[in-house]
This record gives sequence, C-alpha cells and structure tokens, in this order.
Amino acid sequence: MSSTSRIGKLKGKRLLLGVSGSIAAYKAAEIVRALRKLDAEVQVLTTRDAAQFITTTTLETLSGHPVLTELTDSGETGAWTRHITLGRWADVFLIAPATAQTVAKLAHGFADNMLTATALAARCPVLVCPAMDHDMYLHSAVKTNLRTLQDQGYEVLEPGFGELASGLVGVGRLPDIEEILERLAELLPGELRGKHALVTAGPTYEPIDPVRVVSNHSTGTMGFTLAKDLARRGARVTLVTGPTLLDTPDRVHRVDVLTSAEMLEAVLVHRNADFVFMAAAVADYTPTEFHSSKIKKAADHLVLKLRRTTDILAELGKNRQEHQTLVGFAMETENDLTNARRKLVEKNLDWIVLNNLTEDGAGFGTGTNRVTLLGKDGSSYPLSVMPKKQVARVLLDQILADNCA
Ligand code: CTP
Repeated sequence: MSSTSRIGKLKGKRLLLGVSGSIAAYKAAEIVRALRKLDAEVQVLTTRDAAQFITTTTLETLSGHPVLTELTDSGETGAWTRHITLGRWADVFLIAPATAQTVAKLAHGFADNMLTATALAARCPVLVCPAMDHDMYLHSAVKTNLRTLQDQGYEVLEPGFGELASGLVGVGRLPDIEEILERLAELLPGELRGKHALVTAGPTYEPIDPVRVVSNHSTGTMGFTLAKDLARRGARVTLVTGPTLLDTPDRVHRVDVLTSAEMLEAVLVHRNADFVFMAAAVADYTPTEFHSSKIKKAADHLVLKLRRTTDILAELGKNRQEHQTLVGFAMETENDLTNARRKLVEKNLDWIVLNNLTEDGAGFGTGTNRVTLLGKDGSSYPLSVMPKKQVARVLLDQILADNCA
C-alpha cells in the first residue's frame, strides 16, 4: 500500500489536534490543511503559549471550528463538559508539536487546560509528537516522561534530526507531516479489530546436554514482521517465539519458548485464534535423551539418537475450527511446488507460503525474501524479491482480501 493510500484512511475521520508552544507550532497550519483536504473534521486545542507561534485566527479559519484553549472554553453551551464530549467524539488525537512542558503535564495527569484535560478524557488513540531543542529532548527528565507516556498507552513519534530553531543541529525536529499522518492513520481502529492472531517465529532449541542444542538458522524476522503488521491492522496478537535477538513489536503479546515441546504447549493454549501463522522453523527431531552433564569428547565419532517431534501445525489442522484461517510456511530446497502443495493438503491448511532457500534474495538471515503464496483452492501468487516487511504486508493483503471475498 502506498503512503498516500495509507494516509487516505484518515478520510472523513474526526481528529483532535493539540498544539503546544514550540516554534514548530506554525506547522500545525499545514497539518490542519492536509487533514481538511482528506475531508477529516479537525478540532484544534492549543495551549496558551501556542498563540505566541501561530494565531488562533489562522487555525480557526483552516479548521472551520473555534480553537479551544482554556478548560472553560466551549465554542458552544455546556462549557464544563466540553473536554469530556471531545474525548469521546474523536477517532484519534494528535498532539503536535508537544513541548517538554506539555509532555510533563501529560505524563503526570495534569488537567489545567483544554488540551491536557481532553487527553485524560480521550477514549481514542493519542499520538504525541515531541518537538524541542536537542539538549532538552535528551534530558533524562524528558526521556522518563516520554517513557511514562508510552507505558500509559500513548503513542510517541520520535522527533527527527536536523537544524533546530536555536541554530544547533541535533534531534528534536517535528517529523515531516506525511510521516505524522501515516503514523496517525496506523492508529485508527484497523480491519482486524476484535480478531485474535497467533504467530510463531524463530527456531527451537532441542537440548543435547547443558551446553549443546539441535537447532537451525532461523532468525525469527518473518514471524516478527507478520506479528507487527497484524497488530498494526488492529488484531490482538500472540507471538510464540523460539530464541531470537529481535525486539518485541508494539502491542504484541510475546511468549518465549525454547523447545518444540514448549512451543506445542504454548500454541495449544491459543488454539482458538482466528488466524494462525506458523512461521517458526520447528525442529523435526529432538534428542531421545538429555545428558544432564556435558558430553566429553572421547571417541572419533559420536552417535546421537533423535526422535520425531510433534508436527504442531498438523495438530492444529486436524482440529481446525470453522472461523479459523491456518497459514503454514514451507522451507524447500527441491521440488518446491510439489512439496509445498502436499504440505498444504496434508496439514489441512488454507494457505502455505513457499520459501525456496536456493533462490537469490530468499532464506535465513536475509533482509529480503522471495516467496510464493499457495491457496487451498489451487491459487498461486508468486511474489518478487522484496524486503521482509513488504512481504508480510503483501501476504496479509492477499489473505485478508480472500477472507472477505
Ligand atoms: N511445522 C510444525 N511442527 C513441526 C514441523 C513443522 O508446526 N514439528 C510447521 C512449520 O512451522 C511450517 C510447516 O509446518 O509452517 C512446514 O514446515 P517445513 O519444515 O517446511 O516442513 P515439514 O513438515 O517439517 O517437512 P520437511 O521438513 O520434511 O520438509
């Protein structure tokens, strides 16, 4: 999806724009214009200091609504409850620019003006865009307040790097308006709202002794990227992952496991999920016995006895539910289409994502992937080589489009 079509989701939405007294406040005029062009309804709330940087007349003219500043400003009758009605009215609340002062007030629950009081009353997602000078932004008090905001469920958009009003160069600039609007659009309740998605990722470790494991090269990137995209689309996401160095995506519930047996147990807890994406590279074999002390080297050859693990996806396929969409991943090096189609049928799946390790730009540890999506109805969608983030987006677009058809 292009940036323009993502921002297009704001069309016709109801937005609150909170503007506080930073030099970047003049950009609020452009934000209002861009939103009005999308036919969004915009109610501007300013702090007293914001009027030093942008006039109320400008913002009222562009938004078509009276600008509200004091808690008792109403723009209509019923002055004292205006912050409450606005907090319920909005689809999304943008605070841009947010000064160090406003960030501090929000973090500590102050309600001394219309902006901060409405933020407390808001039921919608709130996006805070801090903009201030470099040294202020890097002060630990500001950092702590921003972390507090995130812990409280606010979204925070990192400021950009560049020339600042003070003449210094550093971090603290309000990001481009397009970037702000894209992030805002992502916060709107998504198409998967109310749905539960279960994603597995990474390798499993099958212990041989306290030091060694049987495993594979999976980094977990594909599963993590899918989890992130599903959360962005509004799903409640559970990510069951084997060992990986990746950070947990925002709004994703992560369950860490080590072995295939632990992964099976964790997956079965969430077996009712509406969508299952089994992107983990689960070990097919595990040592029959665990040596409780390190195996010392002795003979020239060491024979390890392995036994088959449970095929987790096949288990889900056997007991699949009416409302459920089951997606598997096939890692192949030869006869790829035949093998992937066989897995699709045998495991009773809706979709399988074929990954041929021998193709350029595909496989473990690469930032890109080249996959083919195969459907149970015989459909086939070969994708070109693209970054894994984009692979996740295209796969989900196709699978969800088909679900709605
Ligand atoms: N899978 C699983 N449990 C296993 C092995 C695989 O759930 N014990 C899942 C994988 O997560 C993937 C799909 O089954 O979604 C296919 O995995 P793949 O390794 O390609 O195929 P296998 O069925 O293991 O067959 P083979 O290794 O013989 O190719």
